[in-house]
Amino acid sequence: MNFKRADFPDGFLFGAATAAYQIEGHKFGGAGSTHWDTFAATPGNVIRAEDGAVACDHYHRYASDLDLLKDAGMDAYRFSTSWARVMPDGRTINAQGLDFYDRLTDAILERGLKPFQTLYHWELPSALADQGGWMNRDTVMRFGDYVDAITDKIGSRMASIATINEPWCVSYLSHFLGHHAPGLRDIRATARAMHHINLAHGVGMSRLRGKGIDNCGIVLNFEYAQPATDSPADIKAAATQDTLYNRWFIEAVTKGTYPAEALDGLAPHMPDAWQDDMAEISQPIDFLGVNYYTRNTIAADPDAAWPHQKSVAGPLEKTQMGWEIYPDGLHHFLTRAARDYVGDLPIYVTENGMAWDDKVENGAVYDPARTQFVSDHFLAAKRAIADGANVQGFFYWSLLDNYEWAFGYEKRFGMIHVDFETLQRTPKASYHALKSAIARD
Ligand code: FCB
Repeated sequence: MNFKRADFPDGFLFGAATAAYQIEGHKFGGAGSTHWDTFAATPGNVIRAEDGAVACDHYHRYASDLDLLKDAGMDAYRFSTSWARVMPDGRTINAQGLDFYDRLTDAILERGLKPFQTLYHWELPSALADQGGWMNRDTVMRFGDYVDAITDKIGSRMASIATINEPWCVSYLSHFLGHHAPGLRDIRATARAMHHINLAHGVGMSRLRGKGIDNCGIVLNFEYAQPATDSPADIKAAATQDTLYNRWFIEAVTKGTYPAEALDGLAPHMPDAWQDDMAEISQPIDFLGVNYYTRNTIAADPDAAWPHQKSVAGPLEKTQMGWEIYPDGLHHFLTRAARDYVGDLPIYVTENGMAWDDKVENGAVYDPARTQFVSDHFLAAKRAIADGANVQGFFYWSLLDNYEWAFGYEKRFGMIHVDFETLQRTPKASYHALKSAIARD
């Protein structure tokens, strides 16, 4: 790595991130069916129709997984709690689920790690999906009840609580592009989900505040929108993409407004009286989480329906996901968040990482491309701090190879390799490189 701990401000947190469904093993401990279980069971949605039933079996192996995090010299762990584990039918509490997160919290704290919780990383209980999921405003209220239940159990021990992970994925990717559960391609469903997921954030914040929690915020994802050419049409298409991906959520949360360019297409499909929710959505947050992976090259597509654009291949080097490697984008979004939206509030890079087709050879995994990727992105964050962004931590995605949603177990983002036959863990060379970089002298 081309950086060391001392290059970052005192107290800067180095960590790694995971999410419940991707690692725990959803069939254990009385968790209920989620929309991901049924999406995965439907042909054509997920590679080899794989699901999170066993995943990394973290449910039983969390202690040794946390040891690996601790042994790397990390300071913090970003994880999520699963709604369908805590409330299998979206309403009734599963005591085993609460107990698991209680044990997990103790284990994180015993190792001197700071727990960064995310409340919703996509485990919508199927019973609520049956009623329209995020298209239905009632799901938002049920989410509030789940926030109460899990927070009463572990909330006071969290270093930080995020309401929602990546509202763009929850709504646009899942209801417009159809790539994630529930796999819809419908503009009315999209507009409703894009609003209700913001309202879920607002209701979640209200419930947390009601319990005196003062370290809560949201995790948003950003993707740099690169115009395919410098033609006015492509520049406009990229700006529209930026509006839908990078502005809709952060403007709602920090300013209580939706960008006019997005409402051009979405307004006719929004739920009634959505304006009345904007105050709750835009109540003050304590931090912003930024997830960043790549950029997307956008061209105008006048023959297509709104938003009249398409994604085209870009020229940069790509990861196993086919995502272009573009560290400057991270600097762009961190400085932009500080300048335009959150000012001096703490910002965390809550996810950044890359997938590669890693193999264990002679008991080791050699992944120099990942070491380079991590190094370049940490340096981008460091430049953002120098340029005034109050970045207080950086979580690599992910601690472990895991269930990569529609890509099943094929894409490996971990710093620790997981053999999905034996579930054996093997720290990769990038893990050792990060460990040396962040060692305390
Ligand atoms: C993000 C998700 C995370 C993981 C990474 C690669 O969009 O938050 O669960 O899938 O991408």
